[in-house]
Amino acid sequence: MTNGTKSKTASQEPVQISPDIFLENFHYTWSLHYQGFDPREEGLREALCTLGNGYFCTRGANIESSADEVHYPGTYLAGGYNRLTSEIAGEVIENEDLVNLPNWLPLSFRIDGGPWFNVQEREILSYHQVLDIKTGVLYRQIHFRDDRGRETKIAERRLVHKANQHLAALEVTFTAVNWSGSLEIRAALDGRVINAGVDRYQALNSRHLEPLEAHRVSEDTIFLKVRTNQSELRLALAARTQVFHNQELTPVERQTVAETGYVAQHLFFDLKSGDKITVEKVVALFTSRDKAISECGLEAKKLVARAEDFSQLLESHARTWEHLWRRFNLELLHQDPDEGKIAEKILRLHIFHLLQTSSIHTMDLDVGVPPRGWHGEAYRGHILWDELFIFPLLNLRLPEITRSLLMYRYRRLNEARVAARRAGHQGAMYPWQSGSNGREESQEIHLNPESGRWIPDNTQVQRHVNAAIAYNIYQYYQATQDLEFLAFYGAEIILEIARFWASLATYNKDLDRYEILGVMGPDEYHDASPEAASPGLNNNAYTNVMAVWVLTHALETIEALAEDRACELCENLQISDEEKDLWRDISRKMRVVFHDDGIISQFEGYDRLQELDWEHYRQKYSNIQRLDRILEAEGDNVNRYKASKQADVLMLFYLFSSDELREIFEQLGYPFEYETIPKNIDYYLNRTSHGSTLSWVVHSWVLSRSDRAGSWKFFREALKSDVYDIQGGTTAEGIHLGAMAGTVDLMSRAYTGIELRGNVLRFNPCLPSELSCFEMQIRYLGHTLDLEITQARLKVSCIRASEKPIKIAHLDQVYDLEPKEILEIPL
Ligand code: BGC
Repeated sequence: MTNGTKSKTASQEPVQISPDIFLENFHYTWSLHYQGFDPREEGLREALCTLGNGYFCTRGANIESSADEVHYPGTYLAGGYNRLTSEIAGEVIENEDLVNLPNWLPLSFRIDGGPWFNVQEREILSYHQVLDIKTGVLYRQIHFRDDRGRETKIAERRLVHKANQHLAALEVTFTAVNWSGSLEIRAALDGRVINAGVDRYQALNSRHLEPLEAHRVSEDTIFLKVRTNQSELRLALAARTQVFHNQELTPVERQTVAETGYVAQHLFFDLKSGDKITVEKVVALFTSRDKAISECGLEAKKLVARAEDFSQLLESHARTWEHLWRRFNLELLHQDPDEGKIAEKILRLHIFHLLQTSSIHTMDLDVGVPPRGWHGEAYRGHILWDELFIFPLLNLRLPEITRSLLMYRYRRLNEARVAARRAGHQGAMYPWQSGSNGREESQEIHLNPESGRWIPDNTQVQRHVNAAIAYNIYQYYQATQDLEFLAFYGAEIILEIARFWASLATYNKDLDRYEILGVMGPDEYHDASPEAASPGLNNNAYTNVMAVWVLTHALETIEALAEDRACELCENLQISDEEKDLWRDISRKMRVVFHDDGIISQFEGYDRLQELDWEHYRQKYSNIQRLDRILEAEGDNVNRYKASKQADVLMLFYLFSSDELREIFEQLGYPFEYETIPKNIDYYLNRTSHGSTLSWVVHSWVLSRSDRAGSWKFFREALKSDVYDIQGGTTAEGIHLGAMAGTVDLMSRAYTGIELRGNVLRFNPCLPSELSCFEMQIRYLGHTLDLEITQARLKVSCIRASEKPIKIAHLDQVYDLEPKEILEIPL
């Protein structure tokens, strides 16, 4: 399987998304259209056409395919992990993977006992694939001719049920255009799959599934059961295949083939020229971790027997999507209508994939939100800091999902406490990459595909993930005032993280400042000073300022709780007044290093690094996003240069308004002029390769006030990251959810200037000049608000309200918004 190579080529020929290509039935801004079959592009299509419901996701692979050079059918359970050991370069290493589950898609066919259908071996007369974003259905229509001149048409629909998370279904209609003869259909459940979706992991062990059962259950139903070989997760799938001839359920001759880890039913028909036959495959998937079950196999069989037919399932599925779109849809008017439509379409695609990864069903699961969705195997489905870019979108629409995702962190608090203690610290130290039980899952070594060398992976010293977790909890609380969550879960995490920062900080007597040594900031190019023997950098500005923010807000959190609960927590955690004084002291005396010219140093010593000859590398390599790999392959080291993979210092301007930052810097006794912001943006922007898709989002955000045109340029780049696979091969391994959610959040908060502070919903719109109008709906403290923003006016309509009026502010003017009230503010 060579996903990487294959999609690299695809990136040079972007996906066609021009408005002119397709069937009138689909609205351009609500669907993704593909015309023709392109093997080089298939991995990318599969990732972008993934269907899912927050419980499981299935890549948009062709139903007749199995994993090979072109195709990679993958199905992943939210939080479905398994660990395996592998021997690499003489070392035994253990990795925890997101397991590729049995493939429920297979439905192939052949005519008159000939070869099974393979799209690459037939003359394709027409080929269309459409992802309908509005209803969450994947369509494919093919008209082909075989070497005996027989023409056949296939029309396919597929869904992963959004209302009942255990169901998926496909429907395929075959038309014998100009031939009569026998048609054999093979509908299978294939548990012989391995994890092979990422080229770079190929040398690692990849066989996670052990077969348990494979057999026929009833006339039209087959059953497969497997288990993961380390985490002992049992998975059961039951598939019912029914045949409709001219829309009537038709009995058909069947044969079952069962092998270890595989079961199929072969269905035989005789067709006459012009005949149409429809086959429906409805699949139920359960695991041993599900709630309200006896045993997963029993439940899968029971549900599939009770399941409705495809069109009924489609109805309830589409209705659930419709409900979600009422909350999440946005509309924009661009001066160039074509560009506006493309932006609207991609933004909706991004929301769609977020809601397939984290959805209503997530609320009942113990899972986090993976940066690459449950759409592929990159980052092994681990949970990193990307939540920071994702939660704000949920907070203003369905904060109940954020709450459940934060509970994933709460359940792993003890593991984080142990990790802190083992590292010689106090409090809780969450891992950079988290999986099943919250231990550190970052890989120890990784392959540089440019050089073929396995090199140490030090990214786990990105302790800033802890600040992101605390920040996320606080933001959720600001958006919901959910004091119950804060009191019983959130506060405990914030306090333990504060304690961790306080114990990590060391006091420098000479400077009378606290320092944080031996960590990494978000910029993953720099994991050590060039001359240092061990990983880690000193005084990463982002980390230090975030630690200050956490310590300050930990003290505020205690204040926000009811006195008795605050007292209980401090007693349980044994937080003394002296400890709180220490937090206060650190939050006033943390060190931030500056260059001589007043630029905030990314870390101590950054100013002494060499300038990179960017022009030289841009000329030498077509894409320098992964400069770290390029330099390593050249025998050099990116640590030597002033070159960042992504925003690091600038993350501060992403997360905080200038007022908030001024407050933090003043608290620290450092000067902070308004000019600090553009000066730093300019400095670091010129030294960033955007090797992470998150980088486009952050840069667009930080420019949104000072350079609207520049901001829109980066926004467009971020929009393209996945649909055009601008990193050349990475999207096929899983979409980039941080950037996807980040683009929507840019529209939603950056360009509207929304800030949630002190029980006030603040606006300060600043639409890019290209946009004439932007509309969306948000929820804030139980109120549903319709927002309409133009260059000249902000209109807030309260369409549903809880009892209390809410406070809305534009600049310094604060308004009470009563139920049903409409507020129009000239800008
Ligand atoms: C970025 C990280 C990010 C990860 C997953 C990496 O390329 O450097 O900041 O968490 O991708 O999206």
